Amino acid sequence: MFRTLARELKLTNMSNGSMVIKSCRFYATSIVGGTSKLDGKVAIITGSASGLGKATAHEFIQNGAQVIIADNNTQLGPQVAKELGPSAQYVECDVTVEAQIEEVVNVAITKYGKLDIMYNNAGITGPIFPPSITELNLDEYEKVMRINVTGVIAGIKHAARVMVPKGYGSIICTSSISGLLGGLGPHSYNISKFTIPGIVKSVASELCKDGIRVNCISPSAIPTPMTLTQVGQFLRAFTQEEIGEMVSELSVLKGAKCEAIDVARAALYLASDDSKFISGHNLVVDGAFTSFKNFVFASPD
Ligand SMILES: NC(=O)c1ccc[n+]([C@@H]2O[C@H](COP(=O)([O-])OP(=O)(O)OC[C@H]3O[C@@H](n4cnc5c(N)ncnc54)[C@H](O)[C@@H]3O)[C@@H](O)[C@H]2O)c1
Repeated sequence: MFRTLARELKLTNMSNGSMVIKSCRFYATSIVGGTSKLDGKVAIITGSASGLGKATAHEFIQNGAQVIIADNNTQLGPQVAKELGPSAQYVECDVTVEAQIEEVVNVAITKYGKLDIMYNNAGITGPIFPPSITELNLDEYEKVMRINVTGVIAGIKHAARVMVPKGYGSIICTSSISGLLGGLGPHSYNISKFTIPGIVKSVASELCKDGIRVNCISPSAIPTPMTLTQVGQFLRAFTQEEIGEMVSELSVLKGAKCEAIDVARAALYLASDDSKFISGHNLVVDGAFTSFKNFVFASPD
């Protein structure tokens, strides 16, 4: 995303001398009153104290679910659970600590007697500098992989352990457009996100015999705190609002921008019976961004 963003920024400045800055929105509210696609369902969402996970928790609750906010942010987590109301509960969880993931699943079983939906969403981008593979810090690489890949696998493992005896469940993971094309993020992040659809295929191949579906979502760039912080590191002259607007303007789908609610609705689809025969799938939420490249011919003059 970052290399593309730099390119887009240049184009925006060239074509549009003064940029019109609008405030960015992290997530929108669903239809008033919501629908009931997850009535009686119990969900765990990792990384739901912020951004896409928070928006999805909101959407799931609007649709009747009980949601466990599993996040290592002990300040934001309880605040978000309070904000989302009695159907949300915060449980501290660092996805790199397997025992903490196991404990979150235990909380679901103890409190509700089941776990219907496990959304392994927590992730970090890791450092964007230095950008070259020749200078990649392998300790930083491993940190990203521990959260973005091993954390996802641990979430799947412990969800499967309680879902298999019940014979049902929906497991969702977050990949990215950075898992479909190179050059959109730091190497560690890209590599971690490319891994997710592979994990999904591998696990879906086993868990289909137990009635458990496993899918992932690959969102485009969305101005969440993660994106704003990372992009802000090299666009230092801009405010968060300006950066949010620039990120939204990366959309190639006329008249639309990618928002957290788009991911939340994709997750709702994969979590609910609307997708009852969908497993092993990577649901790309990018408005065609990764569908094409244009030929760029040299100008005759
Ligand atoms: N925002 C985007 O543009 C975008 C695009 C594609 C994919 N994604 C992916 O979406 C997911 C959510 O990102 P976001 O944009 O909402 O970011 P965010 O920073 O707003 O939220 C991430 C959440 O994960 C939590 N987290 C981080 N490390 C954790 C750990 N070890 N254990 C538990 N929780 C942890 C954070 O506390 C935070 O609440 C990530 O996997 C990210 O890679 C984001």
